[in-house]
Amino acid sequence: METTISRVLAGQKALIVGIANDQSIAYGCAKAFRTAGADLAITWLNEKARPHVEPLAIELEASITASLDVSKPGELDALFQMIGKKWGRLDLLVHSIAFAPKSDLQGGLLDCSAEGFATAMDISCHSFIRMARLAAPLMADGGAMFAMSYLGANKVVPNYNVMGPVKAALEASCRYLAYELGPRGVRVHAISPGPLNTRAASGIKDFELLLNEAAKKAPLGELIDIMDVGWTCAYLATSFAQRLTGDTVYVDSGAHIVA
Ligand SMILES: NC(=O)c1ccc[n+]([C@@H]2O[C@H](COP(=O)([O-])OP(=O)(O)OC[C@H]3O[C@@H](n4cnc5c(N)ncnc54)[C@H](O)[C@@H]3O)[C@@H](O)[C@H]2O)c1
Repeated sequence: METTISRVLAGQKALIVGIANDQSIAYGCAKAFRTAGADLAITWLNEKARPHVEPLAIELEASITASLDVSKPGELDALFQMIGKKWGRLDLLVHSIAFAPKSDLQGGLLDCSAEGFATAMDISCHSFIRMARLAAPLMADGGAMFAMSYLGANKVVPNYNVMGPVKAALEASCRYLAYELGPRGVRVHAISPGPLNTRAASGIKDFELLLNEAAKKAPLGELIDIMDVGWTCAYLATSFAQRLTGDTVYVDSGAHIVA
């Protein structure tokens, strides 16, 4: 497929946040964007993550790389300053990060602590709002932003626990940001991938059951892979999708339409 993709994103500047390894959804997005011609800025969480991410950034010829922990004051500002200095603009932004403390994630919502809830909400949702605020001034010619959600935002998915309300807030945030940024030509999409065996997914109890269930339900009869998410974002990033904004786009072989 990749050899037949034309460079529809040639010259576009894209920031990808959330690559932990080559299984990460963010890596699928980065690979699809690069294949379509975009220039990439790629971040890693910290020095521990760097050896796993830096080789992927090199493979994808990223012109900007940086360390970014959204919970550390000043790191987001520093990253956007670097992007402003080097590129002078930004066209695309992918937010593909989530976190909840293990004890809060693995207990039911009834038992979720205020601190755990606030941390999950800050890293998995409000950080997207902060990124959008910093990205928008660099998107003077318009642009597109993506945030990764999950079906648990709208339906009860056993064991998804605190992340359900957090993803619901993320999807609502995408709608409000789409409303506020639409007049500036900036589109905002929540993407809702079906279950994928990634590092983040390994924190969810009985994740295998979710995979089996999704495969059974999906009208297309198959689980997805990270490139399915990447190509969807790449399409939404192009002007072929210029009148689409604010929606949650499911990339799940149709599983969410089945009761
Ligand atoms: N895997 C799935 O089944 C699935 C399904 C739907 C949505 N998602 C969502 O996709 C996104 C990406 O997850 P993934 O499955 O690719 O797993 P992943 O573990 O590969 O990626 C999660 C990323 O979040 C980053 N992160 C965590 N805390 C951070 C912080 N404080 N600052 C900066 N980065 C931080 C990690 O470094 C990692 O790169 C998440 O929002 C997740 O909820 C995953």
